[in-house]
Amino acid sequence: MRLLLSILFVVLGSCGVLGALPHTCSCIPGFLNAKLKLSAPKAFREFGIVPRFLPVPPKDKLNSAFMTANVELGNFIDPLRTVDTKYIAYPHGKSDVNYTLFLVGLYVNVPNSRNLLVGGDIAVPFIPPMPNIGTRIHRPAALLYEQNDHIDPDDMELMKLIKTRVIQLEPMVKKHNLKPEPVAGTFYTTELSLCGNIIH
Ligand SMILES: *[C@@H]1O[C@H](CO)[C@@H](O)[C@H](O)[C@H]1NC(C)=O
Repeated sequence: MRLLLSILFVVLGSCGVLGALPHTCSCIPGFLNAKLKLSAPKAFREFGIVPRFLPVPPKDKLNSAFMTANVELGNFIDPLRTVDTKYIAYPHGKSDVNYTLFLVGLYVNVPNSRNLLVGGDIAVPFIPPMPNIGTRIHRPAALLYEQNDHIDPDDMELMKLIKTRVIQLEPMVKKHNLKPEPVAGTFYTTELSLCGNIIH
């Protein structure tokens, strides 16, 4: 019953608004196309992700885009643009291995393809990371590791992550026998702040 209700809600949701149309509406102007000329290892260091969160930077860059912005190793993307993810790809990927993809979510047994978000097993579903208001600049990252073995996506430890959503890289890499260093990665920066002069 609950499922039926939520499906109805989704179908009805796009029909209209209750009351007058709001004066401000959320709209996204055009496509944000950034070009930064940093290598992946350099960008991960310059933006302070290495060594604070990751001991060794990925050698290569992951290509990635949202529906209205591309991700270019640290470019600033308005949070509104980060709602719809389009793809993540690793052009230098091998076809005879599987990969594990860490992002705000976890994908395992991912064969190389033009979109790594499809084709593998989803261990923890991806939720686009919306920064909370006033929490400064966030650096959401995606990291790709090569697997040595098949990973059971129904493993209890992985199931627990769906609830906690706290993914600890190093223990995960060891436990699931991934190649120890990430082969590719990318990230962007984003921030949600209040408009105008709000007096508290
Ligand atoms: C990769 O994983 C898929 C399932 O997602 C499996 O069918 C395939 O055999 C795996 N390939 C390798 C090289 O382990």
